[in-house]
Amino acid sequence: MEIQAKEDMDMQKKWWHDKIVYQIYPKSFFDSNGDGIGDIQGIIQKLDYIKSLGADILWICPMYPSPMADQGYDISDYYNIDPTFGTLDDMDRLISESKKRGMYVIMDLVVNHCSDEHEWFRKACQEPGGKYGKYFYIEDIKDGKLPCNWRGIFGGSVWSELPGHPGKVYLHTFHKKQPDLNWENPKVRQEVYKIINFWLDHGLSGFRVDAIVNIKKKLPFKDYAPDRPDGLCDLTVMKKEVEGIGEFLGEMSDLIFKKRDIFVLGEVSNEREGSLPDYIGENGYFSTMFDFAPNVFGKSEKGWFDYMPVTPDNYRDCCFTSQERAKNIGFFANFIDNHDEPRGINRYLPDHDLSLESKKMLATVYFFLKGIPIIYQGQEIGMENRGVVPLEKIDDFSAIDQYYVSIDAGFSPEEALEIISKYNRDNVRTPMQWNAEPYAGFSSRAPWLEVNPNYPEINVSSELNTPGSVLSYYKKMILLRKNLDYANTFTYGEFIPFHPDIHNLMAYYRSGDKDILIIANYQKDARTIMLSREPKQILLNNYDKFSLSNLELNLLGYQALVLEL
Ligand code: NOJ
Repeated sequence: MEIQAKEDMDMQKKWWHDKIVYQIYPKSFFDSNGDGIGDIQGIIQKLDYIKSLGADILWICPMYPSPMADQGYDISDYYNIDPTFGTLDDMDRLISESKKRGMYVIMDLVVNHCSDEHEWFRKACQEPGGKYGKYFYIEDIKDGKLPCNWRGIFGGSVWSELPGHPGKVYLHTFHKKQPDLNWENPKVRQEVYKIINFWLDHGLSGFRVDAIVNIKKKLPFKDYAPDRPDGLCDLTVMKKEVEGIGEFLGEMSDLIFKKRDIFVLGEVSNEREGSLPDYIGENGYFSTMFDFAPNVFGKSEKGWFDYMPVTPDNYRDCCFTSQERAKNIGFFANFIDNHDEPRGINRYLPDHDLSLESKKMLATVYFFLKGIPIIYQGQEIGMENRGVVPLEKIDDFSAIDQYYVSIDAGFSPEEALEIISKYNRDNVRTPMQWNAEPYAGFSSRAPWLEVNPNYPEINVSSELNTPGSVLSYYKKMILLRKNLDYANTFTYGEFIPFHPDIHNLMAYYRSGDKDILIIANYQKDARTIMLSREPKQILLNNYDKFSLSNLELNLLGYQALVLEL
């Protein structure tokens, strides 16, 4: 196949285009004060570690005051830091210490909903018809009927009784402790802009914008055809129908984001057909948005018990389709792990094939795609899912909900535990494994969530100076992406698939001022692939061996190579 080399040179260059994001789940990153919970001082102590990886932008999950019903995604005060994590001064210090090291900090902007313990909601409960009542969606129950039959993202109806008002209900897309803010109300939008400016003035370089596609509701509320025996209908059906979200996002972007040259990472899924340029185009609402395609593949509205495994071909096809979609439009943010999903290595690799090589292979194929790579804490050392745990030890309430969904679908308790163990968000929220000391060196006492028992084998300390470790490999990948000879090609070079039709092969060119081939044998059996050009040099190899003769490239099981052509 001939490569048609063309970079996206017309694209207006932005400071974040060539950056690598490192995601921190603060509760589980590093506990500096021995209370079993990670904190800001802990992050500060580990900044040199993150710097040594080569990451540039730290995305830190919510640390605002919160009752922690949804681990901080339920905010009760947007202008402060939860004492569990530290103080506003600590946060300022974290930002300035990061800046000193040439790194940027972004935090979650969680404004689809707040906490039911936020003063706006308290006031709304005191006076539903007053100013703050209009900050939420509060409706009357009419003839014993709820305003609509939408099912929330964590299960159950989106409506709950308004405390103190038996005839009234309020809407929550997520947990009932997360009442949705009413974006139709201009005062709510003004509050949001004030919050954004407050944090930018504190030195944040941007935001990861949480759950933002949920801010627009199809009004007036109406029922949709039920999709489970509970008589409810998945909220996504409404989201496919609703129009006008662009007015809210455009306003926020024009009034704030664009004026302050920040990095904004949108949590967007299921955007409308053809609307990608509105989100991540030159003049889009966001700098970038997650590529959820591999992540949502195989998921089912029936529940986790009905999810399909993702095969190597599925994974490749999802990534390639996304690359094609974003072509000449903008950048996706590429990831395999995050705080809401199982570890990528457990989802995109067959269980029985988990090895150092396969972990490195998966890392290679996603990391060099066009877009912004995100690394979630622990991914860089090959941390794995926690696996099956007894129900009483599960913290993630969406997993608990899905346990009962599986039971209702006829599975035994053992089967239900096995099913939820695959997608339980606790899988990725277990404490960071720093060393082989008790509690993995995360804390001096039992942490809020049990450490994965494999920490004596998988931890930072044992991998730090070990040439063959996953950690050393991540460092090499980052160094390569940043190498000045290749950075331009990895950032702006065109993405061109290489033999996308070959079973269990994931390979593509990045073509710009250099021609680079990323090629991975996504299976345990060795195989031979014909190249079309002789490589000039091997830029990266997850094995010590390399075998090529007359353009015949012999690949070992799960071998991944980055070749300069
Ligand atoms: C998406 C976040 O990533 C997730 O952790 C949270 O539960 C929901 N949004 C609600 O804020």
